[in-house]
Amino acid sequence: MKFAQRTARMPGVTASAQASPMRSQLSLCRRANNHSATATPHAAAAHARVLPLQVQSTAPILIFDQQKSRAGEQYRILRTKILHHPINPRLILISSPGPGDGKTVTAINLAGALSLKSESKVLLVDSDFRRSSVHKELGFPVSPGLSDVLSGSVALEQAVIRTQQYPNLYVLTAGEGRRNPSELLDSGMWRTLVARLRKEFQYIILDSPPIAAVADYLLLQEVCDGVVVVIRPDHTNRKMCKSTLETVPPQKMIGAIMNCVEDWFLSGVASTSGYYYYGNAEN
Ligand SMILES: Nc1ncnc2c1ncn2[C@@H]1O[C@H](COP(=O)(O)OP(=O)(O)O)[C@@H](O)[C@H]1O
Ligand SMILES: [Mg+2]
Repeated sequence: MKFAQRTARMPGVTASAQASPMRSQLSLCRRANNHSATATPHAAAAHARVLPLQVQSTAPILIFDQQKSRAGEQYRILRTKILHHPINPRLILISSPGPGDGKTVTAINLAGALSLKSESKVLLVDSDFRRSSVHKELGFPVSPGLSDVLSGSVALEQAVIRTQQYPNLYVLTAGEGRRNPSELLDSGMWRTLVARLRKEFQYIILDSPPIAAVADYLLLQEVCDGVVVVIRPDHTNRKMCKSTLETVPPQKMIGAIMNCVEDWFLSGVASTSGYYYYGNAEN
């Protein structure tokens, strides 16, 4: 892995209120075949098991309680931009041109920031079946999770985890690996599950596969309200970046995040190049 250093580096949060991407910166497992995503025997949040987050101390994950955490501040700014975004996105897809850009880190931190601010429930879903890592970062079991719910082997309320340290933050891990993840998402079960999640959670953050992984990504994009694209200047391929940004329909583009940009926020250099620059950290 190219990124040995895992202490938090600055994510230059630059979600734009406008559509143009280039102008924007900044449970325990038991069989439950009779409980499908369509049936709603119990509210998932009310019946979720509570597990403690076990995050490595060096990981750039949920860094909100560190004193004067500038990285944490950037995610709070992103939160503010999302809460005030004109499309009022509730189901938000976090994607990027390729692997390693910081989708998972961004998805976890945004979900954490939203759960701290809003009094409402926030669900983080790992929908990157091919390279699932939310469970590893948070110290949770991978299963039961989304793929198990979609295949009908467990009920949603058996798979959702409520985090002990962040009472409004709920997590649905990816679940057991399946041979054909696209088929799980290209199903009535997936759309029904999404409708149910929308009723039970105020915000749903999807950690998704790269935009270049077309089939899976498009199925996720179809159901979401908006997409946040993570770009990592020291890593993201430029050509790929341009073509993948064009994949996101303008009406669903929330904005782009420049991840791992040292001191971007304080230098504010972006203001000279036509990018949006926001000087105040709002909470
Ligand atoms: N802002 C950041 N600061 C420090 N490390 C980061 C940051 N963003 C990502 N990383 C690290 O880079 C690697 C890839 O990030 P990850 O979120 O897993 O990417 P993706 O989900 O896009 O494949 C991980 O080791 C992660 O800890
Ligand atoms: Mg990931």
